[in-house]
Amino acid sequence: MKTYLVTGGAGFIGSNFVIYMLNKYDDVKIINIDSLTYAGNLENLKSVENNPNYKFIQADICDKNAINEIFENNDIDYVVNFAAESHVDRSIENPEIFVKTNVLGTLNLLCAAKKAWSVGDDVYRNGVKYLQISTDEVYGSLGPDGYFLETTPLDPHSPYSSSKASADLVVKAYFDTYKFPMNITRCSNNYGPFQFPEKLIPLMINNALSHKSLPVYGDGMQIRDWLFVEDHCKAIDMVIRDGKIGEVYNIGGHNERPNVKIVETIIDYIKNNVDDSVDKHLIKHVEDRKGHDRRYGIAPDKIKEDLGWYPETTFEVGIQKTIKWYLDNMDWMKNVTSGEYQKYYEKMYSKK
Ligand code: NAD
Ligand code: DAU
Repeated sequence: MKTYLVTGGAGFIGSNFVIYMLNKYDDVKIINIDSLTYAGNLENLKSVENNPNYKFIQADICDKNAINEIFENNDIDYVVNFAAESHVDRSIENPEIFVKTNVLGTLNLLCAAKKAWSVGDDVYRNGVKYLQISTDEVYGSLGPDGYFLETTPLDPHSPYSSSKASADLVVKAYFDTYKFPMNITRCSNNYGPFQFPEKLIPLMINNALSHKSLPVYGDGMQIRDWLFVEDHCKAIDMVIRDGKIGEVYNIGGHNERPNVKIVETIIDYIKNNVDDSVDKHLIKHVEDRKGHDRRYGIAPDKIKEDLGWYPETTFEVGIQKTIKWYLDNMDWMKNVTSGEYQKYYEKMYSKK
C-alpha cells in the first residue's frame, strides 16, 4: 500500500487524478490536502469521498505546522503537488498570491518532505518521491516552428508562469543540493470534466449555453497544445512509478489549435446538438491579454521513449466528452459560477 499526499486535489486536474488513481488501484491510499480557494470544490470528489483509501484534510500548503503535522501523522510515500494559483489572467491582476502559494508553498512542502523522509545526510527512505506538477508555460512562447523540449531554457512571461518556473528551480535545487528524490512534469493545456469556467473551454461552453458573448482575446490565433485531462493523469501515474529521479518530463499530445478554432468547435457542437440559435455571431474579439504568449507546443518524445506514455484521447473525442460532461452537470456549473465567479467575470470582462 503506497500513500500519496496529493495537494490541490479539489481543483481540476487534482480531482481528476484522485479519481483516476482510486478507480485504477486498490492498493493506493490518497490523502488530499487543499485549502479550498475559489478553485477548490469538494463536489468534484463526491464519487470517492466514502472510499476507505481516501482522506481529505483542509490545509494550506504554506502552513508549516499543518504540513509538518500531516507528515508526522502519516507514512507518506509520494507527494504530488498540484496546489497552485493557476489562472494567468488573475496573476496579471494580483501577482502576490501566486508567488506565495506557488513558490513558498512548494518550498514548504519540500522542507517537510525532506525532514520526514531523511534517514541520514542526503539519504532518504527507500522508494519515496516528490513530484512537482509544472507547466509548459515556463518555457515562454514559440514562433511558428519548433517545440518545447525538456532542455529548452526557461523564459516565463506572466506572473503565473514565472512563479511556476521559480518553483521548478527550487525543486531542482533540492535535487542538486540534497539529492532529494524528485521529478518535475511540464504539461500543456488540459481540458475535461471539473475545469473551473475561468479557463477557455468551460468558459466558452457556459457562455454559449447561456447566449452570452464569447470573448476571444486579440485575433484569437494564439496556439495552445490541448491534452485530455485523463491522459495527463496517466502520465503522472507513470512518472511517479517509473520516472528516473531528478528528471523533467514534458507531457503533451501534439494537438495544437488556435483559440478561435476551439471556440468554433464548441459553437458547432452546441448548434448541432443542443441549440441551433447558437452560432459564430456570439464570438466577440476583445482586448488581448497583456504579455500574451503566442504559441505553446510540447515535444513529448522523452516520456514516450522512456516510459511508454502516449495520449489515448483524440481532441475530437475529448472535446465531445467534455461538452457532454458539462451538459450533464449543469448544476455543478451553476454552483461554481455563482458568488466569487460572478464578481470576477464582471470585473475581468467589463474592461475588455
Ligand atoms: P485549479 O486552479 O483548478 O486547482 C488548484 C487547486 O489548488 C484548488 O483546489 C485550490 O483550492 C488549491 N489550492 C490553491 N492554493 C492552495 C494552497 N495554498 N494550499 C492548498 N491548496 C491550494 O488548477 P488546475 O488547473 O487543476 O492545475 C493544477 C496544477 O497543474 C497547477 O499546479 C497548474 O500549475 C498545473 N497545470 C495546469 C494545467 C492546466 O491546463 N490546467 C496545465 C499544466 C499544468
Ligand atoms: O499551458 C498550460 C497552462 O494552461 C496552465 O499552466 C495554466 O494553469 C492553465 O490555466 C492554462 O493557461 P492558459 O493561459 O493557456 O489557459 P486559458 O484557458 O486561460 O487560456 C487559453 C487561451 O485562450 C489563451 O491563449 C487565452 C485565451 N482566452 C482565454 C480566456 C479565458 C481567450 O481568448 N478568451 C478567454 O476568455
